[in-house]
Amino acid sequence: MQTYAYYNGKFGKKEDINISLNERSIYFGDAIYDAAVGRCDRIMWENEHIDRFYANAAKIGITIPMNKNDFSALLHEVAIKSTIENYFLYFQASRCSTERTHSYIGSSTGLMITVSPYKIKRSQAPLNLITFKDMRHGYCDIKTVNLLPSVLASTEAKRQGCDEAIFVRRGTVTECAKSNIAIINQGRVITHPKGNRILPGITREHLALACKEIGVPFIEKRFTVNDMMKADEVIITSTTNLCKRIGRINGINVGESESSVSKALSELLYKEYKRL
Ligand code: PDD
Repeated sequence: MQTYAYYNGKFGKKEDINISLNERSIYFGDAIYDAAVGRCDRIMWENEHIDRFYANAAKIGITIPMNKNDFSALLHEVAIKSTIENYFLYFQASRCSTERTHSYIGSSTGLMITVSPYKIKRSQAPLNLITFKDMRHGYCDIKTVNLLPSVLASTEAKRQGCDEAIFVRRGTVTECAKSNIAIINQGRVITHPKGNRILPGITREHLALACKEIGVPFIEKRFTVNDMMKADEVIITSTTNLCKRIGRINGINVGESESSVSKALSELLYKEYKRL
């Protein structure tokens, strides 16, 4: 099934929608985005994704040309028009421009939405990851399309036959190319604190809620590569994977067998998806 798309008032197949080369997302990556999963007219954690999208736009001065209710209605309209039952929903707001110039005074907004088939599978197989030097900018909390370091890290992971790349900044584990990461030690979940070094993942928030529900401490504290390699378990969280266990990092086995903690957390998150 093809990806269905919307761009500034036009609906249609992705290949049939033309955009101007003055789009600043092309020249400068001057855009923010968000991504959710959904089924039919239901979008998982919709309000949280929309809130983060608007907050990120505001952080860099991009105006979303409608209020949140109208934007939600538009997301649903595009999802329904796509006729795709289980999907990945991507939305992006760029600063359009009339010509290539770094400064952006007087620009309009390029609003893009795409819907492609995607269903989260409840797989038990632990993932293989690599570590990768975190050379990203100081705006990691903003979901911008400036994704070169994540592209290079993900490509290297794929080249090595692995599933994700873990960013490491001066020995500290920050997050992954497209997921947050946590370790579990003596029944406590530990993950990098929020700030400008990581994306405040929505799944990470729901992991914290799931921890609360089962009475497991959720600790926002830095940890090193060494801590991670010795941890009882390593898990990653993201919209598209929910909560997955890690089996190997750089070819070395990590974690013990699946604990009741990680099992319960991943089941709680998956239940939320199944309830959609
Ligand atoms: N990635 N960290 C980074 C760098 C991410 O790109 C993502 C999401 C996450 C997890 O955030 P959330 O739980 O809100 O999905 C953490 C999405 C899925 C993507 O870029 O496609």
